[in-house]
Amino acid sequence: MPTLVEIAHERSNLDEASLEHLNSLLSEWGMLADFCFADMLLYLPTRDSQFIVAAQVRAATGQTLYDTDLVGVVADTNERVMIDDAYKSAKLITGEIKVEMIAEPINLMAIPVRFGDRIIAVLTREWSQRTGRKPGQLERTYLAIFEVFAKMISTGLFPFDGRGADATVAPRVGDGVVVLDADTRVRYASPNAVSAMHRVGISANAVGQTLAELGIAETAARHAFERLEPVVEEFEQTTDVTLLTRTIPTLKRTGRQVSVTGGVVLLRDVSELRRRDRLLLTKDATIREIHHRVKNNLQTISSLLRLQVRRLKSEEAISAITESVRRIRTIALVHETLSREAGEDIAFIEIVRPLLRLVEEGLQSADRPVKFSVIGDGGRLPATIATPLSVVILELLQNAVDHGFPEGSKGGSVLVTLGQSDDGQLSVRVIDNGQGLKSDFEMAKVTGLGLSIVRTLVTTELAGTIQMRAATVADSTKELKIERAGDGTVVDLKIPIVGEK
Ligand SMILES: Nc1ncnc2c1ncn2[C@@H]1O[C@H](COP(=O)(O)OP(=O)(O)O)[C@@H](O)[C@H]1O
Ligand SMILES: [Mg+2]
Repeated sequence: MPTLVEIAHERSNLDEASLEHLNSLLSEWGMLADFCFADMLLYLPTRDSQFIVAAQVRAATGQTLYDTDLVGVVADTNERVMIDDAYKSAKLITGEIKVEMIAEPINLMAIPVRFGDRIIAVLTREWSQRTGRKPGQLERTYLAIFEVFAKMISTGLFPFDGRGADATVAPRVGDGVVVLDADTRVRYASPNAVSAMHRVGISANAVGQTLAELGIAETAARHAFERLEPVVEEFEQTTDVTLLTRTIPTLKRTGRQVSVTGGVVLLRDVSELRRRDRLLLTKDATIREIHHRVKNNLQTISSLLRLQVRRLKSEEAISAITESVRRIRTIALVHETLSREAGEDIAFIEIVRPLLRLVEEGLQSADRPVKFSVIGDGGRLPATIATPLSVVILELLQNAVDHGFPEGSKGGSVLVTLGQSDDGQLSVRVIDNGQGLKSDFEMAKVTGLGLSIVRTLVTTELAGTIQMRAATVADSTKELKIERAGDGTVVDLKIPIVGEK
């Protein structure tokens, strides 16, 4: 479906400023259609002196006359007379037309759209006896409001060009309407508006009272009346009732003077929405706070253990506890990252980088430098996977350093490659170009604590697989060279990624 701007460029001589005025009219006309219970069409004058429908809107409050889309249709002679009349006279014109396929006569109101000193388009309201609503007080009031807005359109006072609050978030006519006079005295409140006011404790009849007396939306109305433009405001009326309001001043032009004749407040009870927003916010903040505290507790534990290490003499005990401290710090790292994230999953690379730093810090020998690098990022992982996997990677990195480059060797490189395959598997490879595995190495027979932890976490907690082998020259990459067979070790992990449901 072509847009207003497309039709205008193709068929009319309207300039950009006029189109902007019409576009802001379109952002408001859902409200207009709702107030008049009818279909509305926007006609643009064409270069060949016709009128073409550039936009169409139906009322949420009434039945539609036209099931078909009329955008792009040119006005036929019978409606053109009235549209042309409104266009040339700059006055509101009402009358009847005959529409093909519809038996009864159609009522038409043609409203000239003024922009500056010119009429740039014509808006029509179209309805019939069949689609009209049975008139009651609400219907009469809404139609009167509509007529005020129609008058404002023809005198260039509506829409409120560029100014005024965003109508898209604002309440709709069906949400509740309060009509005000120029002193913000309530002249009418729709049943939904009365219900909303009930919920904030206004049980007396609001009609005849000012907003200040009622204690609602008063500042918004004052601002709207002073600035001559709509104001959207949300009120926390009581601790558990929140009202969203949009106050639109109704204006009148007398000569050069523009004055406020009253206003319309659209209001909606958004308490339930806001309550849910708040709950979500607090839940999220709570989870983050908990991660933060877990991290702090783990840091305390690792500090206590470090104090303990200082009092130990036995080499074995010292290295055992030092390793434990590193494992605890790894888990703390995951919680720290989680405490900064909004959800329960994290960009895994944000853990891998500091992990590499952690292992690097533990290396103090300048005689055998080790270069660390990472390829890929592994995407986002749920915390349930990220925590055990971090511990696994730490062990593998530590082994690469401890066994690949033991004292007396000359150092080398360690590379971590992260990737997610299409079938949802995460693949992690840790490779070093160090001394390589002993000839009798067998994964199944390993008794060391490090690889036992790795095996248990990978096969049980992560439901994945692990493979360890000697590197070959073919495993070389830009980051890491394998000079000859027998050098280096490759560890491959495959982990299925299943988030917590
Ligand atoms: N990257 C590696 N290069 C060479 N040997 C390794 C490597 N990773 C593990 N190993 C071998 O596997 C053994 C078991 O490792 P692990 O269970 O972590 O115990 P630890 O590191 O305490 O010796 C190591 O002693 C070592 O012989
Ligand atoms: Mg080890």
